[in-house]
Amino acid sequence: MTNLERKLRAMFLHDNLKIFSGSSNPALAGAVCKYLGIPVGGANVDKFPDGEKVIRVEDDVRGRDCFVLQSTCKPVDEHLVELLIYLDCLRRASARRITAVIPYFGYARQDRKDEGRVPITAKLVANMIVTAGADRVLAIDLHAHQLQGFFDIPVDHLTGELVLSRYFRDKKIDNLTVISPDVGNIKTAAKYASHLGGDLAIVHKRRFSGSEVQASEIIGEVKGRNILMCDDIIATAGTVCSAASLVKDRGAAKIYVGATHGILAGAAMENLAEAPIDEIVVTDTIPLSGQAEKSGRVRVLSVSGMLGEAIKRIHRNESVSSLFNNV
Ligand code: R5P
Repeated sequence: MTNLERKLRAMFLHDNLKIFSGSSNPALAGAVCKYLGIPVGGANVDKFPDGEKVIRVEDDVRGRDCFVLQSTCKPVDEHLVELLIYLDCLRRASARRITAVIPYFGYARQDRKDEGRVPITAKLVANMIVTAGADRVLAIDLHAHQLQGFFDIPVDHLTGELVLSRYFRDKKIDNLTVISPDVGNIKTAAKYASHLGGDLAIVHKRRFSGSEVQASEIIGEVKGRNILMCDDIIATAGTVCSAASLVKDRGAAKIYVGATHGILAGAAMENLAEAPIDEIVVTDTIPLSGQAEKSGRVRVLSVSGMLGEAIKRIHRNESVSSLFNNV
């Protein structure tokens, strides 16, 4: 490609592709735009005195391919409503196509009726996003893969495994056993084990409440092994801390934890401070809280390159799944 062709291509991308940032994760949106070499879309977000949000998109979006990046992390409801307002705003401003980029999708954990008189919030929220105007969704590690089907529009589903696997592979951990800290995550743990060349083990976990869990048994060998525990979410950190204590008691050597979404809520930082974990790694789908940042206990890897590349490919109608050919 000649220099002139390259410049024309960049100008075309610049003019037709618009990325807007919700207030949940402006640093990630900025990093994605930097990767793509375009500015973050202009928008004015304000509030009425009662807290109601008012958003005005300042760039001309008529006929453009628009992306809104918003993690529905804490404060979950506020970020969710802001995303819905953005989508409505872009639709009414005649955007050609609108993609909701949701690095972390909150409300995903209530994805079925496993007892009477409970909602399925994952489906409710998916309906709200489609109704508000999204034509596509780009998400990372939805709590369960089948949530893709909750949206009646195309969903590109990325995984933090791409960046986490590379990080742990570069560490060249020997005698590695990859552990799934609960049965729900076995498939993911098996993938890590195959990419990193380790054995696989599973911890059986019992959950008593949102913040109380107990790791009760291990299937697989951990004695003398270096452990990588992988999960999609660390919320209160009860799951990984309880599993880490159990495998340490059973003679594990070093323990590493890798998770895509560092929610780190409730007593997470206190739990992690006391746990026998040598390194905790999450991605920047959710910004670290001040307490977590100050503790220096959590390493953050960026998904901005992966998201930027996926956005570029969606914009150009190129394959997104081939991004994962070389994990
Ligand atoms: C459970 O199904 C998830 O994969 C995580 O293990 C869970 O959400 C983590 O929650 P917490 O950190 O509060 O134990």
